Amino acid sequence: MWVTNLVTLCLLAVASSAEEKKLSSHATSLADTSSHLAFNLYHTLAKEKNLDNILISPVVVASSLGLVALGGKSTTASQVKNVLKANALNDEHLHKGLSELMSEVSDPVARNVTWKINNRLYGPSSVSFADDFVKSSKKHYKCDHSKINFRDKRSAINSINEWAAKSTDGKLPEITKDVKNTDGAMIINAMFFKPHWDEKFHHKMVDNRGFLVSPSFTVSVQMMHRTGLYGFYEDKENKLFVLNMPLAHKKSSVIFIMPYHVEPLERLEKLLTQDQLNTWMSKLQETAVAISLPKVSMEVSHDLQKHLGELGLTEAVDKSKADLSNISGKKDLYLSNVFHASAWEWDTEGNPFDTSIFGTEKLRNPRLFYADHPFIFLVKDNQTNSILYIGRLVRPKGDKMRDEL
Ligand SMILES: *[C@@H]1O[C@H](CO)[C@@H](O)[C@H](O)[C@H]1NC(C)=O
Ligand SMILES: *[C@@H]1O[C@H](CO)[C@@H](O)[C@H](O)[C@H]1NC(C)=O
Ligand SMILES: *[C@@H]1O[C@H](CO)[C@@H](O)[C@H](O)[C@H]1NC(C)=O
Repeated sequence: MWVTNLVTLCLLAVASSAEEKKLSSHATSLADTSSHLAFNLYHTLAKEKNLDNILISPVVVASSLGLVALGGKSTTASQVKNVLKANALNDEHLHKGLSELMSEVSDPVARNVTWKINNRLYGPSSVSFADDFVKSSKKHYKCDHSKINFRDKRSAINSINEWAAKSTDGKLPEITKDVKNTDGAMIINAMFFKPHWDEKFHHKMVDNRGFLVSPSFTVSVQMMHRTGLYGFYEDKENKLFVLNMPLAHKKSSVIFIMPYHVEPLERLEKLLTQDQLNTWMSKLQETAVAISLPKVSMEVSHDLQKHLGELGLTEAVDKSKADLSNISGKKDLYLSNVFHASAWEWDTEGNPFDTSIFGTEKLRNPRLFYADHPFIFLVKDNQTNSILYIGRLVRPKGDKMRDEL
């Protein structure tokens, strides 16, 4: 009796994990189009001077754009669909699809990853939010609303940063040091992400190494090491490595694109398109790889307002043209800032792995993937193909090491 119950339970568990939740067609098409947003946004950001690390979540940006569509009218709203390449969807499908996509890819139980996402819309103290808008934006975009008075700018900025710190359990202490345009609506995304590997690193396989920010500048970081079987491709023509490291239950994976040696990332960034990524993914081969990754945390905050304007959201960001009157019932707002900020922790944690493979032929003569110099990375969802994150690690936190001769 006891045994039969146990067997039934096990069978049930297998059945439910094998059964993939089916996404609606609009959520699926938004997953596809949001990956274009990933590359476009990355490229506009990469043009910024003196910018080191990049970290953006394209699906979260898509969801913030949905919020603009919800609050916007006429061209202000329709431009969102252009940017998302979602002109074929009606409003209801746009909002439902984005909401469905987000809840699928950030489901903490199915995904077994840590991803805290907090969205807030700040309006000037003169604004009164329409009830309908507050209700729908909570429902579809898990967005809360707050008024902010910039007369005392210092304390306004402090309260934004305090909200971000509190809602990420202290992982993201600062969104911004300054706010230039204080007369509009601000969207803020405050996030914390921690990859949970499908096969964890041993927590003791960690030591201090140098990370080469440039050939003449090295910082001291912790590095974690593990050897295993991974999708790996050496692109000899472009002198780079591509590595696919699955996250828990292979629902998504971190894809690394790293040049052979330390060099500015511009050369690789020129190659970075959806098609090229698909080509690289199709060439991955299961290979024994000895991986060394920095075990560091990154906190990165971008103001995407200008960049979204460059991608075609020209009206919402323009004070003289914006019509966001579904937010307040009046044509009194424009999108003055879009702060998109994440804390990210590279760490050893993950699921247990099969140890019987160690010492066997399969792991003989592993290829080396030694990430001690700048690289590009993406988190790609395995089921929907949406891109959960795209970024680059150029300058990890760490003390400068003495220059070697
Ligand atoms: C925006 O306002 C228009 C006109 O007032 C209304 O028909 C529409 O339903 C509103 N949209 C939302 C999402 O509230
Ligand atoms: C992932 O799963 C493991 C074991 O199943 C659990 O201990 C851990 O707390 C989970 N982590 C997250 C972030 O859900
Ligand atoms: C996607 O999931 C399938 C099924 O779990 C797995 O075989 C495959 O390796 C995964 N793909 C990637 C790129 O991790």
